[in-house]
Parts: sequence; structure tokens; C-alpha cells
Amino acid sequence: MSNGRFSSTPDTDTPIAIRAEIVHFLSDPAYSGDAAIEHFADGLLLVRDGRVAALGPADDLLSQLGRDVVVIDHRGKLLMPGFVDTHVHYAQTDMIASYGEQLLTWLEKYTFPTEARFADPIHASQVADFFCDELLKNGTTTAMAFATVHPGSVDALFQAAQSRRMRMIAGKVLMDRHCPDWLRDTAAQGDADSRTLIERWHGRDRLTYAVTPRFAPTSTEEQMRLAGRLFADFPDLHLQSHVAENRGEVAWVAELYPDARSYLDVYDRFGQLGPRAIYAHCIWLDDADRQRMADTGTAMSFCPTSNLFLGSGLFDLDRAHALGIRVGLGTDVGGGTSFSMLQTLNEAYKVLQLAGQGLSAERAFYLATLGGARSLYLDDRIGNFAIGKEADFVVLDPQATPLIARRIAHTRTLSERLFVLMMLGDDRTIAATYLLGRPTWIRGAEAIAQRSGSAGW
Ligand code: GUN
Ligand code: ZN
Repeated sequence: MSNGRFSSTPDTDTPIAIRAEIVHFLSDPAYSGDAAIEHFADGLLLVRDGRVAALGPADDLLSQLGRDVVVIDHRGKLLMPGFVDTHVHYAQTDMIASYGEQLLTWLEKYTFPTEARFADPIHASQVADFFCDELLKNGTTTAMAFATVHPGSVDALFQAAQSRRMRMIAGKVLMDRHCPDWLRDTAAQGDADSRTLIERWHGRDRLTYAVTPRFAPTSTEEQMRLAGRLFADFPDLHLQSHVAENRGEVAWVAELYPDARSYLDVYDRFGQLGPRAIYAHCIWLDDADRQRMADTGTAMSFCPTSNLFLGSGLFDLDRAHALGIRVGLGTDVGGGTSFSMLQTLNEAYKVLQLAGQGLSAERAFYLATLGGARSLYLDDRIGNFAIGKEADFVVLDPQATPLIARRIAHTRTLSERLFVLMMLGDDRTIAATYLLGRPTWIRGAEAIAQRSGSAGW
């Protein structure tokens, strides 16, 4: 590693301790208030073998450190667990900010032509590299991502994530109708390709496969049936799709599946709800749908920048919360307009303001970290600094821009400072991103990707 500040960054066996202001969440502040938050004004996070080994006040821990521990000083900055983006389309990176349409026209006009390019594995690999670096630059250490209908697009993304040691959940889009011929699979081929990809990638290093029916309108009933069976065949798989995003889409689903009680019920009938199933948007649901999501342990991905950009509607967090549904946040790039989870929190706050709800900074950062991990059923491994968890974290710079620095100077509490960071922050606010205790992105330096194939960790 050649960057100045980290020129003495140790190899992967050396334990490291990071000194900074540290904050993380033990539970949801919406349920448990201040008890949900652990905060050390001058803290120390000790990492051994890529995992959290200790956390506490620097004064207490520094004197106990072994001589082998390298201390990295981030005082003046705020360290928290890496962000979890629970819904994003890597193949839509090149069409972010495409003007003027709502969902169904936007898919036809921009999305399908852009995704068609992923038939070319070199293109897929170039976009996957850019995408993973963009996530890291924004402090996102775990993502759940759609690839395209092309199996090679999944290979490209998993290779890019694996070489950086990122945690990535991804899958090949299943889509066998209502889309251009050149983007269409068949029920049988989609199933066979998914199974091959599962064999190749699922459970390897930090990679997990997700069964990925795009949404109910672009799959035949046969494909939906096979997708549900596939999800059941491998106990640790994820499943990702979209539901109840746009009113035109909801009406279309009612025509296509006249026997279903609701849009969500289509997925339910095909065995596509349950733990590790995550649905983006969840705007135009009724309470019977929400109750079903709660009862089955199915999670929602709230994608505020996308919902505003595509004019889709306002997510109801209070209702989800009242029913105990797992909720994470998604950027939904390219329907979403930013890779930044800070910008996503900014827009989430405004969506909830419009709905008369509101979002405290504590709850917002919970959603971006432990809440996201819980929605993906990964909270036994990531999401906070509990001992033994994977040491993925982000270092936020409260002096990142002159405006943020001025505004921070006028804050008194942690809550106020967190709120300023989520409203004014973006990629400039991310001073560094660490994966498994190693710096992988440092602002102002090149990404420190460990492009070693299977990295031996
Ligand atoms: N519904 C089906 N496909 C998509 C997609 O690519 N983006 C969004 N936002 N919604 C979808
Ligand atoms: Zn999406």
C-alpha cells in the first residue's frame, strides 16, 4: 500500500486499533431510545483477524494493547459501522439521472438498452469495478445488488467484490416476458443459469447469491414457480425483487395476475416471501400485505431518492415499524440518484417529513447500519461493533467541507452532529472505508483494492 498516511499499514495478520470518536447501535433507537446507542467520544476499536476484538474508551484500552498492535489515529473523525445498501442495480450505473419518466416508461426507454450492454463481459467487468469503488468511496461495505439477465454480469460483479473483500449479495435477473427479446431468458434457462451461478459463487468468501425475479410483470407463472422453488432449495439463499412501487405497475400486476389478492400476494403464492427475501419500495401496499411481510419475516428496502426521482410515492416507515417489519435502506441506483447512503438518509428524512413522520438522526444511522444488516439477516456478522463481528467500518470527516465544518461548530450534541452529516454529507464526508479491518478506500488517495483473486483471508 503506497498511500502516505497508511504507508505503514500492516499486513492482514497484524492486529490494528483505530482511535476515533466511535458510535454504533445495539438495537433500534425507535424501540429502545438511548439504550440503543453506544458512543465513545475518544474510543478505540481493536481488530484481530478482520474481526472486532475489543471496543471501549481509548484511555482504558490503550494501556492494555499488546506490542504487536498497530494504532491508527483518526481522532477528530467519527467512526461507525460500514453502510449497508439493501437495494441497488450495478448495471444501471451508466444511466443514473436519466430524465423525465416514471417507472414503466423509464424501464423501456433507459433501463433495458443500458442493461443489454452486459452481454459483453468486458463491459460488465469495467462497470463492476467502477461500481464497487463507488460504493467504497461512499462508505458502503455491504450491498444487495441486481445484475442483469446475463450470467456473466453476475460473474463480473462477484469478481469485483471478491477482489476488494466486500460483502456482496447479488443475482442474475430472471425475466422471460414483457421485455425486449435481446434481454429475455426462458423459465428453464433462467433456472439452470441461476443454479450454475449458485454453485460457482454462493457462500464463497463474502459472497451470497440472491434469486432475482425482476418483478412479477416480467416473469411468466412458470418462471415465478421455479424462482420460488430455487429459493426453497438452498436454505441460505437470498431473494430480491420489487413490489408496489408505482401505481401503473400495481394496476398492470392486477391485470396479469387476476386471482391474486394483491401484488405482494403474487410473490406469496409462488413461495417468494420469508427470511432473506427483500422487496424494494413497498409503497402501495395495504395493511394485510404489511402484516404478511411481518409474519413471514420478509424485509422492505426503503429507496427514497428513487421514489422521489421516479415520482413513485412516499414510503410509510411508521406503519412498517408498528407492525415490526424489517426495514433497510436502498439507493436503487439508477432509479435512485446517489450512491451515497448519507444522501439517501437526507431524502429519507424529507420523504418522512412529507408523510408527517420524521426521522431522528439516530434512527437514520441505525437504518443505514444495523437496520440494513437485520433486514438482510446478516446481523450476526455485520452492522455493529459487537465482539467477533466482521470489522467493516467507515470514518466520517466532520470537517469535510467548509459548510459542514461551520455548521458542526454550531452543534452541541452527537444527535445534532449526526443530523448535519446526514443532511449535508456525501462522498466527500467519507475519509476512509475499511473492510475486515483494512483500509480499502482513503479519500484523496486511490482505492486500495486488494486485487488478489481469492485473497486468503
Ligand atoms: N421494477 C422493475 N425493475 C426495476 C428497476 O430496474 N428499477 C426500479 N426502480 N424498479 C423496477
Ligand atoms: Zn430497483
